[in-house]
Amino acid sequence: MSANDTLLQKTTEESLPEDLFAAIEKLKREREAVILAHYYQDADIQDLADTIGDSLVLARAAQKSSAKVIVFCGVHFMAETAKILSPDKKVILPDVNAGCSLAQGCPKEEFVKFKAEHKGHVVVSYINTTAAIKALSDYVCTSGNAKAVIEAIPKEQPIIFGPDKNLGRYLSEQTGRKMVLWPGTCVVHETFNERRVLELLEQNPGAELIAHPECEEPVLRHAHYIGSTKAMLDYTQKSPVQTFIVATEIGILHQMRKASPSKNFIVAAPATLTEASCGCSTCEYMKLNTLEKLYLCLRDMRPEIELAPELIAAAQKPIKRMVAIG
Ligand code: 13P
Ligand code: SF4
Repeated sequence: MSANDTLLQKTTEESLPEDLFAAIEKLKREREAVILAHYYQDADIQDLADTIGDSLVLARAAQKSSAKVIVFCGVHFMAETAKILSPDKKVILPDVNAGCSLAQGCPKEEFVKFKAEHKGHVVVSYINTTAAIKALSDYVCTSGNAKAVIEAIPKEQPIIFGPDKNLGRYLSEQTGRKMVLWPGTCVVHETFNERRVLELLEQNPGAELIAHPECEEPVLRHAHYIGSTKAMLDYTQKSPVQTFIVATEIGILHQMRKASPSKNFIVAAPATLTEASCGCSTCEYMKLNTLEKLYLCLRDMRPEIELAPELIAAAQKPIKRMVAIG
């Protein structure tokens, strides 16, 4: 049991406020805090957020915010990025254990060796990395701007891309650039499979498959649209299509349904039991954040992201290069 869970258990015994929504809103005002939430958070958290977005939108929101405190409802690397971009602000997140298979699968020591094996390469890191990996990178990118970042690098320059090999392969195909790929994957997006998406497309004539580029190639091959979480949401709003088969984390469906209430959204997860019980397209890391933990973190102002100033300075450089590209 994590420290957060122990605290939650203790507090639950003491009893939490009856109206958690009101209590969170009140604490937020008192603390002069802003709540940033990723699309993969539970619907209740999304509804309480000041800004909901993908990792790029949230990084920009963190940078621009004038609030004293940023409550980051997302995973650890996202909260870390907010701290790197706003070092003077207090950045807290509901559950410090909200990790990411990509960030955790790319340890610093091994990445240093990987870099040494590919001397002369420019390092482009997906934002789903720890601050230590960002500090070892030349550029950071998100799924929303990765193509633009790669295209901004001179053609003759060899590139290392990490840690998501699926996104790397997709980018290589899109840009025609050869890249050395770190062999990481997202545990959520790698579960989608070709057989299931073909089955769903056949069962739903006229439906379109929309997919996040962290999915594997046999799934992306059949996608009518591939994009970041925000790009997928925008696409479903603009498109005249009525039914979408969605190959990304289930949390985004909340905003898709809100934005287009008359359209149908089908989860592309391999074994759809019910949306609530099927873990197949659920990011367990994201879902560690709960309304109760959000309340506690605002009440106690922890867990807090703390990074050494030298690490912040080193990790800022590749992020600022990304921001400059647009
Ligand atoms: P986005 O950049 O689309 O928010 O993706 C982040 C992520 O963790 C996808 O799994
Ligand atoms: Fe990481 Fe995948 Fe979860 Fe995104 S969905 S936070 S990439 S584990």
